[in-house]
Amino acid sequence: MRSIRLLAGAAAILVPILIAGSAFAADAAAGEEAFVRFGCYTCHGYEGQGAGTGPKLAPEPLAFDAFSTFVRQTSGDMPPFTPATLSDEELQNIHAYLESIPATPDPASIPLLQQLQ
Ligand code: HEC
Repeated sequence: MRSIRLLAGAAAILVPILIAGSAFAADAAAGEEAFVRFGCYTCHGYEGQGAGTGPKLAPEPLAFDAFSTFVRQTSGDMPPFTPATLSDEELQNIHAYLESIPATPDPASIPLLQQLQ
């Protein structure tokens, strides 16, 4: 009886914590701010479009697992960002920001460009 009460007590404490933990929703606007704050833009460009200093990251960034693994370990050509400096939540936000960047439109779909020919 006592152990059942203990179990119920533990569940009452743990279940809301687990639910709150899994309810994290990546925030692209916060990710844009973090992308600037952590200096990613200095090598990859503000829109992740790439530059001489780093490859393009967007549109269509790597899937989150590969993205996260690379940022945590890198190849040596990029400084690694460990969870101590850049949290998983911030990294998910940065990924959401890069995912939110639209693909460049097909030039054929831009009427003004067709008039220039
Ligand atoms: C000092 C310059 C520099 C900074 C700052 C930097 N990067 Fe990089 N990044 C690079 C370079 C160079 C590469 C290419 C490395 C390679 O291909 O071996 C790279 C590669 C990557 C890749 C792999 C891309 C691919 O398609 O393989 C990801 C993802 C990435 N960077 C994300 C980030 C994020 C997120 C930040 C900020 C938290 C950041 N980078 C900050 C220079 C930088």
